[in-house]
This record gives sequence, structure tokens and C-alpha cells, in this order.
Amino acid sequence: MPELEPEPPDRLGVRSLPGARPNVPPPAPSDHPPTSDAHRLFLREPSRTPIRIVRGEGAELIDEQGRRYLDAAAGAAVACLGHGRRDVAKVLARQAERLAFAHPSKFTTREAEQLAEKLVDRAPAGLDRVLFTSGGSEATETAIKLARQVQLARGQGSRTKVITRRTSYHGATLGALAISGQAGRRQPFAPMLLTQPMIAPTSCYRCPFGKEPDSCDVPCASDLETAVLDVGPENVAAFIAEPIVGSSAPGRHPPERYWPRIREICDRYGVLFIADEVMSGNGRSGRWWAMQHTNIAPDLLTTAKGLSAGYSPLGAVLAREEHYRALRDLPGAFRHGHTFAGNPLSCAVGDHVIDVIEREGLLPRVAELGERLKARLQETIGDHPHIGTIRGRGLLMGVEFVADRATRAPFPAEADVRTLFAHACLDQGVYVYQGGGNVDGRRGDHALLAPPFVLTDAQVERLAAGMAAALDRIAPELARAAEAAA
Ligand SMILES: Cc1ncc(COP(=O)(O)O)c(C=O)c1O
Repeated sequence: MPELEPEPPDRLGVRSLPGARPNVPPPAPSDHPPTSDAHRLFLREPSRTPIRIVRGEGAELIDEQGRRYLDAAAGAAVACLGHGRRDVAKVLARQAERLAFAHPSKFTTREAEQLAEKLVDRAPAGLDRVLFTSGGSEATETAIKLARQVQLARGQGSRTKVITRRTSYHGATLGALAISGQAGRRQPFAPMLLTQPMIAPTSCYRCPFGKEPDSCDVPCASDLETAVLDVGPENVAAFIAEPIVGSSAPGRHPPERYWPRIREICDRYGVLFIADEVMSGNGRSGRWWAMQHTNIAPDLLTTAKGLSAGYSPLGAVLAREEHYRALRDLPGAFRHGHTFAGNPLSCAVGDHVIDVIEREGLLPRVAELGERLKARLQETIGDHPHIGTIRGRGLLMGVEFVADRATRAPFPAEADVRTLFAHACLDQGVYVYQGGGNVDGRRGDHALLAPPFVLTDAQVERLAAGMAAALDRIAPELARAAEAAA
């Protein structure tokens, strides 16, 4: 009988665990070099040590030392109902016991159907069908592919382009990044990205056309027509835009007359309009959808983030009945899908989130809190020499930093004012979502504020005071960076 081959060394280092296989020596140090961290996570930004959060309560996050941070961005417009809710935990536990997963290729669930019904009931007119995803980038990918297949079903096979706006952000996956106008995020992957046409952003604070918001004829909307004609209408599948911008230029939104003009151009040239409400949706603007502040409806609407309030990953694309019917009769129907899309656990949470928002009257509260927060920020930091503008709608707001208020010149990107400010805020026990690139995809520092809808009036005060104190603390660095910009 041949001798048994000795087992090969275990690359995962299981043998080094106490009691795992006592006779086998631990792996050679070269196999498992010591890390400078206390863990094995592949951090997104290894140069910065993240804070280990152990618990959440309402609008606060709590770290290992018991230090509390006001979560003024709800992560990134996610935790809309606040943290640590027993009611949501109960929904999750009940659903996990009953059914956590059934593959969407062959099965549907009552939870997915019920949430779809509730979303359609509250959606802009004509959006009657729901495809679930597990997040925002997946929703963007799904919407792009859906637009393409709808155009194919219409016999418009040459329509492959998706027009987007400069300085926008629609997701991290390669398809979503290709239609995101943030130069900084695109740079390492640029040779891998499909080229898509980009039009002007809706930046009233720094209008690329040199117009005033109260009197302009929205040339930023007409820019879409220019792009469609440049590319050729027969080549354009869709146009994507955020009704209220999130991470790439928080709180930015155009004058009311922008959207009817966009709708008109899309209709004239057979282009599908995708409203990206990944951040602005689910009540964050004070209405269910930011598009409901306008009188037009998109053809497709994407969402995620607050849809499940951060308790379980969930996203969705809302589509028109006619698109569903057009695709339904095609061989293979809609050729797209993600494994966890519409899992009953996430859908049960999403359903509960809608109930809570309505039962607790959170939509009017968001509108009221948004006004209150904006007013308090104006009072406390609005006149600061390096605050350019404070803008937004409901609880989707942004504070933009400038080197010079008179010229609106941004700080040099290398000064990294966004990080400087966000860290100074953390020292004050306030978490804001830092970002940049609102000017040209790279320059332009800002902080996104998108707190939970359960923020208290006292927390509004704490947030404004914390930001003011953070600005005071970094005053010397801001002065130096402004000098370098001059
Ligand atoms: C407007 C918008 N679209 C899409 C995305 C991508 O969502 P996710 O990070 O869930 O993939 C984001 C994320 O910040 C977003 O703000």
C-alpha cells in the first residue's frame, strides 16, 4: 500500500490557530508577514486608521472607548431611520427565521412583491415596475442595460451611448464609472472605461455658462440637445442625472425649469431619461423622490442607500410598464440579474422602512429639519471666509469650501481641505462625508450632510457648533492653503 502523501501547507494559516492541528508547525513568517494593523482587512485607505465602531443609537455611532459621533451623513445618506432600532432588528430576525433567500431566477417572494407594490404606489407617474438590486452601482448597471434592451426592443440597435454630466457620480463598477464624471475616481481605470458623452453640470454657484440662476434659460439643459445632435440621436440610448446631487457636489440642484427642458429633449430624440435617486430618494429630500419636486417623471429611476436604511443591502430600478411589456416578449427577456437581488430579508426591511417613515411623519420632519439645519449653518459658518456655499434640499445638503469667497476659487486639490475638515469634525465628535471634485472632477472640496431623519433639534445645534469649532481649529491650515492658491 502506498504511503499517504503529507498534506500541503495550509495557505490560510489555519494550522497556526490554537488547537487547530497541534502537530503542524506554524507557517513560515514569509508566508504571513506581520501587519502594522490589528486586523487583516484590506482597507480602502490604508494610510488612515479608521475608528472601530461597536454600536449605534439613533443619530449616533459609538466607538470602543464609548466615544459618541453624531452621524451627520447617515454613513452616506444610508441610515435614514437611525442606528440600533429594535423594530428593524425584529423584522430581520422574523424574516430570517421564515425565509432569507430564494433565487430570483425561478422564485418570487411575498416580501419582494409587497415592497414593489409600495414603491410603485409612491413613485413618479408611470413607473410601475420594480427590479431589485443590492446597491446603487448595481442599480446603475441595471438601468443602463435595461435602457439598452428597451432600445433594442424598439428596433433601435444603434443606440449604445449613455449621456451623463461632468463631475457626476453614479457608481464604482466599470459601467457605472464610465458614466461618472469624476476625474479623480476615473483616473486609474480610464483606459478600461467606455467613452460616453458628458454635458455640463448644473452648477449655479459656478455656472459654466456665466449665467445667473434666476434669469437664465438653462443652457445646461440645452447642452443635452447639443450632445445628442453631436453624437447623433440614433446612437443615444439614455441620459442619466441626479435630481439633487449627492457625493460629487452635495446638495446641488438646478432651477425648476431645467427638468421640463430635459424631458422635452429626451422625448424629441427618443432618449430614455434615468433619474439617479440612489442618494436623493426614499424621503431624503422631504418627498419620497426628489423628482417629485418637479412636474416631470423619468423613464427609469434608480435607488439604494436609504431604501433599507442600512440594515440590509438593497437597491432598485423603477421602470415603465411599456418597457416591461416590450422586453417580456423577447427571447431571454431581460438578460441581466444579480444573485442577491430582491432577497426577502432586504425587502422585508425595505417594506418596514416605508411604514416607519409614514407612521412617524418623517417626510414633513425631513423638510423642516432641512430648513432648520440650513439656517443654523448659515448663522454659524455661513460668513466664514472659506465657506463658499451651503446648499441642498431636505436632508441632502452640502457645504462647499473656497480659497477665496470673492472669486469662488477652490483650494488646490493637494491641500486636501476635505480631509482636514472631516478629521477636525471627528475630533469634535461629528462625522461628515468628505468629498471633492465639484469644480472639475478633481478640485473643489466639500462635506456632505445627510443625517438620519430622526435627528433631534438638539443634534442640529450640536452639528452646527461642531462644524464651527472644526473650522476654527483648522483656520491656520486653511489660511496657508488659501495663500498657496492665490
Ligand atoms: C448618486 C449615486 N449613484 C450611485 C451610487 C453607487 O451606489 P453604491 O455605493 O451603493 O454602489 C452612489 C454612491 O454614493 C451615488 O451617490
